[in-house]
Amino acid sequence: MHSGRRHSSGEVVLETKGLTKIFGGLIAVNDFNLKVYKGEILSLIGPNGAGKTTVFNVVTGIYRPEEGQVLFKGRDITGCKPHRIISYGIARTFQNIRLFPDMTCLENVMAGRHCRSSSGLFSSIFKTRRQRAEERDIRGISERRLEQVSLSRFRDELAKNIAYGSQRMLEIARALASEPDLLVLDEPSSGLNPRETEDLMAFLKNLIREEDVTILLIEHDMNMVMGISDWVVVLDGGRKIAEGTPEAVYADPHVIEAYLGKEDEDTGYGASA
Ligand SMILES: Nc1ncnc2c1ncn2[C@@H]1O[C@H](COP(=O)(O)OP(=O)(O)OP(=O)(O)O)[C@@H](O)[C@H]1O
Ligand SMILES: [Mg+2]
Repeated sequence: MHSGRRHSSGEVVLETKGLTKIFGGLIAVNDFNLKVYKGEILSLIGPNGAGKTTVFNVVTGIYRPEEGQVLFKGRDITGCKPHRIISYGIARTFQNIRLFPDMTCLENVMAGRHCRSSSGLFSSIFKTRRQRAEERDIRGISERRLEQVSLSRFRDELAKNIAYGSQRMLEIARALASEPDLLVLDEPSSGLNPRETEDLMAFLKNLIREEDVTILLIEHDMNMVMGISDWVVVLDGGRKIAEGTPEAVYADPHVIEAYLGKEDEDTGYGASA
């Protein structure tokens, strides 16, 4: 059921080739190859410290890899600056929520849109007619994104004043405001209660159905991984140790071993299913 869509488009949106990222003496990501197909939900999983977030940070331009390439829609984006990568069509959220706490919810979403506009967020106060029209567009798009995550009622509330689970959804709305081709989510369910996690899963499944978007996510919650992924890639010690359908990966002895070896940590593996 999940795997059916994997190659249906046949189009690779994101590819990493031989990606290696080193911090001091530590090889955080080691010769990592990944293919993300258009229209799928791909989950990157692995124990704490496996290198998952580092992969995201390299893909989104926060770090430059020591070796290897990142190709997005066929274009080599290795080492490009984060704002440039957003403008190419990759938007992300963070493991630790990064919102503008003292801006309203709507302003936070608008900030996600401004990266695609010509005027920029803090443009001059002498606005041209074109800039004012653009501003209205951004507001309209942002209001729709806010509505999509059911947060319209908090439109004028400061981001820091809404519940944690709502902040997670607000960050997703902000990412979506840039109309990305690839949405990259770093542990979107982290800190959510089971009900909120269910809602998030339904939201993402619906998003894939209704919009021309591809989703790459890091996830610890095995219920979510099993329930949402078309394909699962497992990292351990910076290396890919397995990939496949959620069912195949869940039953893979190498994967079980990687997690059980780190039983003390909060990996979430085995918490369900
Ligand atoms: N900026 C950095 N400087 C030095 N070491 C880093 C840096 N970022 C990550 N690391 C190290 O690289 C390794 C991989 O970290 P990373 O954050 O990618 O893991 P992760 O798979 O996302 O883990 P978690 O599930 O805990 O979020 C870890 O050993 C981490 O300490
Ligand atoms: Mg991480």
